[in-house]
Parts: sequence; structure tokens; C-alpha cells
Amino acid sequence: MIKFNYIHHSCFLLETKNSKLLFDPFLDGNPKNITPKDLTPSHILVSHAHSDHLGSAYEIAKANNSLIISTNEIAVEASEKGCNSHGMHIGGTHIFPFGKVRITPAFHGSGIAGGHACGFIIHLEDKIIYFAGDTSLFGDMKLLGELENIDYAILPIGDNFTMGPEDAEKAVEFLNANYIIPIHYNTWPIIEQNPVPFKKAVEEKTSAKVIIVKPGETITL
Ligand code: NI
Ligand code: MN
Repeated sequence: MIKFNYIHHSCFLLETKNSKLLFDPFLDGNPKNITPKDLTPSHILVSHAHSDHLGSAYEIAKANNSLIISTNEIAVEASEKGCNSHGMHIGGTHIFPFGKVRITPAFHGSGIAGGHACGFIIHLEDKIIYFAGDTSLFGDMKLLGELENIDYAILPIGDNFTMGPEDAEKAVEFLNANYIIPIHYNTWPIIEQNPVPFKKAVEEKTSAKVIIVKPGETITL
């Protein structure tokens, strides 16, 4: 059983019996007032170094001896700051104790010199989960959908900094995932979106189901 705990924005936890994976731990303004001290992840996956993604990653990693998994540039910086880290890069896969991770492209700034933003495809228990990170729509999402039998795709829909709902509808067609969880919206006015019309449009056009998870909620995948 995998628990998906949506903290807010792009930050969420995937929890199984043996692992706690924390993604993009930006906590400022989350509705349950979760602070770094409340989180005890085994691994922290960071898609890029913009402050709304890197967030409190180093502080949480140091306090819990968590392994930071990210692009090489961020992994090097994390180790310089005293954290355990595992650097990977786009197209690479690695098998961790919890399962396989593939680093995917994301069309976005890296937030760190010489770096590149990324997404992740994670094999966890019997599920395959794609977290797109911050990205535009891109044609190779179709290739990702062919390479991996994605169960859950966690996609930004906020627009302005990432794809918006209309482009995310196209992403759903490309990825061929069973379930879609929209994120990276309504954190600030500039990325305000109503996920309900997105859900309706996706479910009319494709066989995917959209699960709207409110910040602070936990669901079972
Ligand atoms: Ni960003
Ligand atoms: Mn962002």
C-alpha cells in the first residue's frame, strides 16, 4: 500500500511500509503548518533547485540522514552542505532499496549553475509513478508513456511557470497513465487554476481518471 500525502504546491510524500519518499520539500504556507521537524523521510527527491522545490531539503536531510536523489549538480551541492546524496541525470535509471528511479527531462530552469530541471519515474511496490516536476508539455512524454507503464502521473497545471491545464490535457494523452494528480496550482494568484474543468475535459477525452487531492490530504494509491 502506498500513501500519497499532498503537503502543497509540488511537495508530497510517498509512504510505504519500508520507505518514506519526500518530493520537492517547499513547506512555506502549507495548510497543515508542517515544518521540517515534522518530516522524517528516508529519501528526498528534488526536481530542480528553484526555492519552491529545493525548499528545506538540506535541513530535513541532515536531521534524518535522508538520501537526496537529484541531478548531479544538486547532489554535489547537497554533499557540500553535509547531506548524503545520490546524483543521477536525465535518461539514467538506478535501483534503490525502495525500487527503480528513472530521471526524465523537464523543460524548465535548473535553479543551479550548469544544471537541468528533471522529473522522476518511480517504481514503488506494484505501482509506477511519474512526477513531472516543473515543465512545459513536450512531445517525448509520448515516449515516456511507451517506455513505462505509468499508473499515476503527477502533473503541474498552474500555467505561467509550467504547462497549464490545456497543455496538461495533451500531456495526459501522451503519457497514457491510468490516474492523474494535478499539482503546482493555487499556491499563489499567478498560478490560480480550477482543477474541476481540467478533470472533466481529461475524463471526456481519455480513459484516465483525474484525482483532485487538496493540500493537506492523504490518499492511498
Ligand atoms: Ni521551478
Ligand atoms: Mn515551481
